[in-house]
Amino acid sequence: MENSSWIRAMFEEGERLKKEHGAENIFDFTLGNPITEPPRELKQELCDIVLSDAKGKHRYMSNNGYAEVREQIADFHRENSRLPFTGDHIIMTVGSAGGINVTLKALLDPGDEVIVPSPYFVEFMFYIENHGGVMKLVETKEDFHLDVEAIEGAINPRTKAIIINSPNNPTGVVYHTAELKELAALLEKRRDEGQRILLISDEAYRKIIYDDTILPDVFNLYADTITVFSHSKDLGLAGERIGYIAVSPLIKERDLIDAMIFANRILGFINAPALMQRLVGRYQKNSVDLADYQQRRDAIHGILVDAGFDVDLPAGTFYIFPKSPIEDDVEFVRTMLEHRILVVPGVGFGRKGHFRIAYCVDMETIERSRAAFMEVGKLFRR
Ligand SMILES: Cc1ncc(COP(=O)(O)O)c(C=O)c1O
Repeated sequence: MENSSWIRAMFEEGERLKKEHGAENIFDFTLGNPITEPPRELKQELCDIVLSDAKGKHRYMSNNGYAEVREQIADFHRENSRLPFTGDHIIMTVGSAGGINVTLKALLDPGDEVIVPSPYFVEFMFYIENHGGVMKLVETKEDFHLDVEAIEGAINPRTKAIIINSPNNPTGVVYHTAELKELAALLEKRRDEGQRILLISDEAYRKIIYDDTILPDVFNLYADTITVFSHSKDLGLAGERIGYIAVSPLIKERDLIDAMIFANRILGFINAPALMQRLVGRYQKNSVDLADYQQRRDAIHGILVDAGFDVDLPAGTFYIFPKSPIEDDVEFVRTMLEHRILVVPGVGFGRKGHFRIAYCVDMETIERSRAAFMEVGKLFRR
């Protein structure tokens, strides 16, 4: 519990401060809750489904989910990757959190290792430990891109998988094709030597990318790949818990998929929420209206630069990960608190000396926070 999360700790602190000073006087950048609302047509369809008199809509189903929805998702992946995806390669899950747990349950034996590039989404550690695994953190480079040499150094005979997350929480970095190819070459070399390492690609923010950034299709880079996706962020359905696993058609054995379907059942999920499955199938090609997020990204980046922070412009997600002006990021975050700004220290993501801002908040909050950021910036100007 003590390790449970800096994000939550800061959130609790924020609630206390809001009671003391009034919510409008606190600039809370701690939680990654999407600002987009589900599309209007989706809400209408939800009403239609709920009110229709067709029988059996709320009953048990196959543990991998409705066949027609899995086919719709497979169509999207077939078009995108030009690989022979069918509905059998798709498992509907309780968000990507459910999808990652199902994958790890199916894959890990006690003591198996999973490599995670750092900084990282802290929940990965708990998910890996849930299933008897051991997380091996590997630092990314200074610019938060993959350090494939360091990953090679972390591989040993117990390594079962690597979890990558691009677009990345907390850094906003999107991995380039070249670094992913380099990683794939390393994993293929191990495969030739007799060790299969699964690439698990967490693509929860796949649709939140800016400018002309391209998200490489990992299925075309490495055969032993599965991706985990959810509609929490793109359709604004985080509370509804709907996502899916896509397993590469290049993985010929059926065991892994069968084990995942079984894990969906015995972890107690049984299946992903029925109403939500029926809704999301046809939204696979939808893209998020990025204008709102991009406006916020540019505004917060501008404020940080004006206040003197060392920060890169993120290529995706709704997070930004500036350098803390002092080495002790926890101490720095305390100073921010005194100025009523709530952010999460980098140490909470495995990288000291930084802090994370979740800019999925009202534009007004971002604009009103400018003066507070300028005050803090001034304190640390040399
Ligand atoms: C990197 C990453 N993966 C997975 C999740 C879990 O998302 P969900 O289970 O809502 O799909 C999150 C949520 O913030 C995330 O940031």
